[in-house]
Amino acid sequence: LGQIRANEDDPGLATYDPGFVNTASCRSAVTYIDGDKGILEYRGYPIEQLAEKSTFLEVAYLLIHGDLPTKEQYENWVHEITYHTFVHENVKEFVQGFRYDAHPMGMLMASVGALSTFYPEAVNIHDADNRHMQMVRMIAKMPTLGAWSFRHAQGKPFVYPDNDLSYTENFLSMLFKMSESKYVADPRIAKALDVLLILHADHEQNCSTNAVRSVGSSQVDPYSAVAAGVGALFGPLHGGANEAVLRMLRRIGSKENIPAFIEGVKNGDERLMGFGHRVYKNYDPRAKLIKKACDDVFEVVGVNPLLEIAQELEKIALEDEYFVKRRLYPNVDFYSGLIYEALQFPPEMFTVLFAIGRTPGWLAQWNELITDKEQKIARPKQIYTGDRGLEFVAAEERW
Ligand code: ACO
Repeated sequence: LGQIRANEDDPGLATYDPGFVNTASCRSAVTYIDGDKGILEYRGYPIEQLAEKSTFLEVAYLLIHGDLPTKEQYENWVHEITYHTFVHENVKEFVQGFRYDAHPMGMLMASVGALSTFYPEAVNIHDADNRHMQMVRMIAKMPTLGAWSFRHAQGKPFVYPDNDLSYTENFLSMLFKMSESKYVADPRIAKALDVLLILHADHEQNCSTNAVRSVGSSQVDPYSAVAAGVGALFGPLHGGANEAVLRMLRRIGSKENIPAFIEGVKNGDERLMGFGHRVYKNYDPRAKLIKKACDDVFEVVGVNPLLEIAQELEKIALEDEYFVKRRLYPNVDFYSGLIYEALQFPPEMFTVLFAIGRTPGWLAQWNELITDKEQKIARPKQIYTGDRGLEFVAAEERW
C-alpha cells in the first residue's frame, strides 16, 4: 500500500490508527475475547470454568501448550516449576542493591530482565527445548523475585522458596513468613490467590502483551521481552489501575461523598478508576469472578469498609447515564485491589501480583510469536507531521 502515492511527497497509503484500536498485529490461538458479550476463553475454555475447576499451574500449561495436560504431564510440569523457584545468589544481592523505598514493580522489571545474564543460552529462541526451559524458569522464579521485592521494600530478610508447598502457598510463605517454623497459609486464602492468578493469566493483545510481542519480535531472549511487559504493566492505565482504585476509594472515604465524586468524574476532573475497558463494553467477566473471590476472602479476614464504598460506587455508576452511554462497567481492577489489601499486600505490590499471574500468558504469546513463520519484526508506520528539507545553520552563525 505504501507504493500508492498521490505525488512524490505523499507518504503512501497507510492506516492511521493511534493505539492500534482497529489493527490486528498478529494471528493468535491463545485467548478469545468477545467484549460486547463479556466472554473470555483461554484456548477455548471459558474463564468461569477454569477459575472454578482448574489451578493456576494447569492454566499456565494450557496457555503455553495449547491443550490440557494428562496426569503425567501435569505432575511433570508442577515438578519442573517447583524445582526452579530458586534464583542465583547474585540476583538476591542485585535486589538488595535497590533503594530502601524502591517500587517493587521497578525491582521486578529489573530483576526479571537481569535473569537474561544468568541464562545466556536463552538467546537460542529457535530451539524448542531451550524455550521450554526458559518458560519453566520464568513461571517458577517470578514469585521469588516478586516476594523478595516486597521483603526488600519492608526491610525484612528474604525467605527462600519452600518446595514442599504449592505454587501460591510457597509465594505466601516467601512474602509473609516471620519465623523459622513452616508457614501455613489458610487454604481459602491460597485458593483465592490462585483464582486471581488464573483470572490475570492472559488477555490477548493488551498493552503489556503487545510490548512482549513487540520486543520479542526482534528475537531477543524471553527475559528481556518479559521485562518490557512488566514495564508496560507498571503504568496506571494498565496494571497500575487497581492500586489507583484503592487510593480513590480511600480518598472518597465514605458513602456520602460518592455523589460529589461522581460529579467530578462527569465534569472530566478525573476518571473512575477500575471502570471502562478498551475491549469490554459490557461487564468484565473477570470482575464478576473477583467479586465472588472477594466474598471468600472477607469471610476469612472480616469486612473492609472500603468494600461498601466500592459496592455503592458501582451501583450508582451503573445507573448513571454518563457511564451507561459510554458503556463503562467495572473491570478486573475494580475489586482486585480490595482483595489484595485484605491479604495484607501494600498497594505497590498489587501490580506485582498481576505480573506473576500474567507471566504464562506473556510466555504463551511469545512462544506463539517465535513459532509463527508469518511474524515480522514490529515496526509500525507513522504519519510524519514535522518540517522537511530545512537549511541547517551552524550554532556560531545562529547565536
Ligand atoms: N471514568 C470516567 N470516564 C471514562 C472512564 C473512566 N474510568 N473510562 C473512559 N471514560 C470516558 C472517556 O472520558 C471518554 O469519554 P468521551 O467520549 O466523553 O471523551 C469515553 O469514556 C471513552 O474513553 P476512552 O479513553 O476513549 O476509552 P479507551 O477504550 O481508550 O480507554 C481505559 C480504556 C484506558 C481502560 C479507560 O476506560 C480508563 O482510563 N479507565 C480507568 C483506568 C482503568 O481502570 N484501567 C484498567 C483497565 S483494565 C486493565 O488494564 C487490566
